[in-house]
Amino acid sequence: MKLNLAVIFGGMSVEHEISVISALQAIASLDLNRYAVTPIYLTKKNTFYVGEDIGKIEAYKDIPALLRKSQEVLPAKVGGKAAILRHPAKTFGKNLLGTFDAVFPIVHGTNAEDGTLQGFLRLLGVPFVGCDVGASAIGMDKYAMKTLCKDCGIPVLDCVCVAAARYNEDQEGLLRGIMQKFEFPMIVKPVNLGSSVGISKAKDEASLQAALDLALRFATRALVEPCVRNLREINCAVLGDISSARASVCEEPLNADEILSFENKYMRQGKGGKTGGAAGRGQKAGMASLSRKIPADITDAQREQIQSLAVRAFQAIDGNGVARIDFLMDGATGEIWLNEINTIPGSLSFYLWEPTGLPYGKLLDEMIRLAFKRHREQEDLMFSFDSNVLANASFGGTKKK
Ligand SMILES: Nc1ncnc2c1ncn2[C@@H]1O[C@H](COP(=O)(O)OP(=O)(O)O)[C@@H](O)[C@H]1O
Ligand SMILES: [Mg+2]
Repeated sequence: MKLNLAVIFGGMSVEHEISVISALQAIASLDLNRYAVTPIYLTKKNTFYVGEDIGKIEAYKDIPALLRKSQEVLPAKVGGKAAILRHPAKTFGKNLLGTFDAVFPIVHGTNAEDGTLQGFLRLLGVPFVGCDVGASAIGMDKYAMKTLCKDCGIPVLDCVCVAAARYNEDQEGLLRGIMQKFEFPMIVKPVNLGSSVGISKAKDEASLQAALDLALRFATRALVEPCVRNLREINCAVLGDISSARASVCEEPLNADEILSFENKYMRQGKGGKTGGAAGRGQKAGMASLSRKIPADITDAQREQIQSLAVRAFQAIDGNGVARIDFLMDGATGEIWLNEINTIPGSLSFYLWEPTGLPYGKLLDEMIRLAFKRHREQEDLMFSFDSNVLANASFGGTKKK
């Protein structure tokens, strides 16, 4: 019997569009002999839709038109299973439109990848693919992630975390503190965004202030860190769970700008990006279309170091499924710092597994298997504790006489 699998994508995030690409790419590679797939589109207003065209990339050229011919649904738990209900409900007729054995969230960025959707799926009690709530939240929060990595002895750049509330109270003092700590140039970024949105380089006090103003428009906290000189970026994906994590080949994304920009990452389709031989329908869009070198041109020792740090970071956050761990390297000294952990990477990093002999379809199978494994492990945990505390409970003084 086929497994009923819902793939949820979209969401209220600056990376909404990229998630549509990542999800529809993945759906095209799922083994349809094993899975009955229902694509579920989460709009930027956090409403859920299903329909015949929801799984077609061309339909997203005109989203209002797509929504008009699709059906809004409400996810719910029905008979112990995750389900979708027609919304608004019909007085007569069928409102239960589907039930699912598992959910595959393919969302990027805040309000989705950051544990929000994962928490919702936990409440529904359905097995879901990828990192759990905690790992997703830590992966999205660059400050929490760096703090955790530091504790585990994983090299990260020193940073100052600037909260908007404090910045507004004492801008001058904060700027002075930062300039005492770091030399220019510095990099300023929102603490929890992705795709290079809101990131800029500060070369002096005025541009530091402008960079903080910009970053704090996107998040309530911003990070300031030293700018890595002779920058090279090396990424490595990790697949598995805490006991089976293994590293992929390394890639080196190739920059056209100083900061690897949103445009560079996603809008350079068809400009000669080497994707490691991805075959299939529409697989060269999104993150997979970025110009990159696979494998990265680094020494064996550097590769081993990066792969081992990537696995350690994945284990440190208690990762699950596939994550991409990004590193910054000083090309002159060879020094390496972990920069960020993407718990649902663009294109699910399939192009980093194909060169290891793992085709995209098999990568997806493995991720789904891991979802069921975690679900079983969680079911074995004790979540309730029988007691008679409530039997005798009363609030003094509130009792009616
Ligand atoms: N400390 C740094 N020094 C130099 N360049 C950086 C630094 N931090 C980020 N960058 C550049 O900015 C890009 C985006 O930053 P990153 O931290 O990866 O945020 P995002 O989550 O938006 O991808 C990086 O890919 C890199 O090109
Ligand atoms: Mg990045």
